[in-house]
Amino acid sequence: MCGIVGIAKRRDHVIKDLIAALKKLEYRGYDSAGIAVLSNGTIHVIKGVGTIDKVINSTRSIKDGNVGIGHTRWATHGGVSKENAHPHISCNGEVAVVHNGTLDDFNIIRDKLIRKGHKFSSETDTEVIAHLIEEKLAEIGDPVKAFSQAIYELKGSYAIASIIKGYNFILLARNKSPLVIGVGNGENYCASDVAALLHKTNRFIFLKDGEIALITPDRVDIWYLSESTMKKVENKIEVIDWSPQLLDKGNYEYFMLKEIYEQPYILNKLANSIDYYKKFSDQLLRYSESGGISIVAAGTSYHAGLIGKFLLSKLAGMRSEVIIASEFPEWSHHVNKSDTILAISQSGETADVLEAVRIAKSRGAKVLSIANVPGSTLTRLSDETAFIQAGPEIGVAATKTFLAQVAVLYIISSLISGKSTVRIKDGLINVAKELESSMEHISTISRRISSLLMDREHVFFLGRGINYPTALEGALKLKEISYIHAEGYPAGEYKHGPLALIEKGVPSIVLVPSDERTREKIIYNIMEIRSRGAFTITIQPKSVNIPSDFSLPLDVKSELTSPMIYVVPLQLIAYHTAVSLGRNPDKPRNLAKSVTVE
Ligand code: M6R
Repeated sequence: MCGIVGIAKRRDHVIKDLIAALKKLEYRGYDSAGIAVLSNGTIHVIKGVGTIDKVINSTRSIKDGNVGIGHTRWATHGGVSKENAHPHISCNGEVAVVHNGTLDDFNIIRDKLIRKGHKFSSETDTEVIAHLIEEKLAEIGDPVKAFSQAIYELKGSYAIASIIKGYNFILLARNKSPLVIGVGNGENYCASDVAALLHKTNRFIFLKDGEIALITPDRVDIWYLSESTMKKVENKIEVIDWSPQLLDKGNYEYFMLKEIYEQPYILNKLANSIDYYKKFSDQLLRYSESGGISIVAAGTSYHAGLIGKFLLSKLAGMRSEVIIASEFPEWSHHVNKSDTILAISQSGETADVLEAVRIAKSRGAKVLSIANVPGSTLTRLSDETAFIQAGPEIGVAATKTFLAQVAVLYIISSLISGKSTVRIKDGLINVAKELESSMEHISTISRRISSLLMDREHVFFLGRGINYPTALEGALKLKEISYIHAEGYPAGEYKHGPLALIEKGVPSIVLVPSDERTREKIIYNIMEIRSRGAFTITIQPKSVNIPSDFSLPLDVKSELTSPMIYVVPLQLIAYHTAVSLGRNPDKPRNLAKSVTVE
């Protein structure tokens, strides 16, 4: 969703750097962009609707300076227009603000400011911040105090960066929206996530809710804002070991394809770090002894969570429930201080997940998390985090992080069950080998399957047992990037309704279990839909030969690790279908990589 950057340099100009950092945030999704630069004591703004290239890169009509802020906007309050794009400036042009989040009751502040003579030029909640700072500046004079007083009046979620005429620094504030500070040499930065700044630094300070900060080229000062007074906070710098090369597409046409191909390497890496997950597994086991485990996640991470529930039950005999994060407030009245939340999130910034965690924490529940992005808000709210070590994921469609989440859940459940490190490692290495050796073949067959799907209106994905969530994931991948309607179903549930939609030629992709008992049942389900004219595509173990119209045989050694194999053709089917239809799989319409609003 909205992305923020800010750069304070000693001498050099910032526009080029602001554009480079903003471009690293493009993957979050945006509809408009803008920058504000302080030069010769004056604030200059460029903003508009469209890509960063269109809006900023092609326009060099403003003077460059050495302090600036930038923004990519994903519309929430107000339509997509130049007026609503950020940065927003105050009436006298002396304050510029970029903001990610949504302010509650901003109309009350706006009306108050209008009564004092302020003139608004956008429909956004953000614009009130600029006018409010201007108002406080007129009252108080000191820019840091004025900023903090303005922030104190805001309610809701915000990551804010602001520059003020005549002052060579950037002011920041954070509450429930991500904001990191990058520490450089003779220059300092801020951004919505580390990906925007990795090409500049690997040293970061993660701001906490309620903190405000000031960054100059040589200094970072942080305060905690409490009851309108500011208490100085110590700077805690963390080193992030993600390589900036991971943010490069290399020879791949799209990030999504690159990330799909990275999967065997991630599995190998995880297979070699099983000991790292021991502490987390012990903690989960210990916590489960005092109460229930609620797995909480959204989208693809929710599907991984369902597989996690299966693995915890099957391998470790452990009871758990899975709650979709956005539904947690309504479905969690039973969760109390003896319970544990197992939150799963790639970004660690999904607002629904964070809200669920905050509710659970407020009732005293313990929080464990499985996350990808170091320093993300979820990791700050958790008692302990297990990182999935997948590196930055840029494609909006989650691919490698799903596989890594499933692998980590497999490791954790296996460790709790008492399986030896060697056996767990073997299980993962077998999957990695199969993927490594078959990737090109899977891609070729998936491309062929995509040519059978691209002109269809509906596609169904069926699975049983541990691959029922894989079927859900296959359907999500196809619909989100190709815009073809797709549904995932437990194969046995199909006859309780959706079978009515089966007519001649409707494609159904069936994930055939390697486990004999479940396989017998799915064969029956396949016969049911084929007899009604469905066009069936099976992804099945090499060792069997289930009749279907089209099949992709794969080497599946264990049912419990099969989701990590079966999901790959589903990702590639979605990818090739989207590309054949001329859709950009990295940036599907209306979607953002990190969903930071509820
Ligand atoms: O960062 P998270 O794992 O919390 O994100 C959750 C969902 O927004 C995410 O998985 C989304 O469904 C993906 N775009 C699916 O490909």
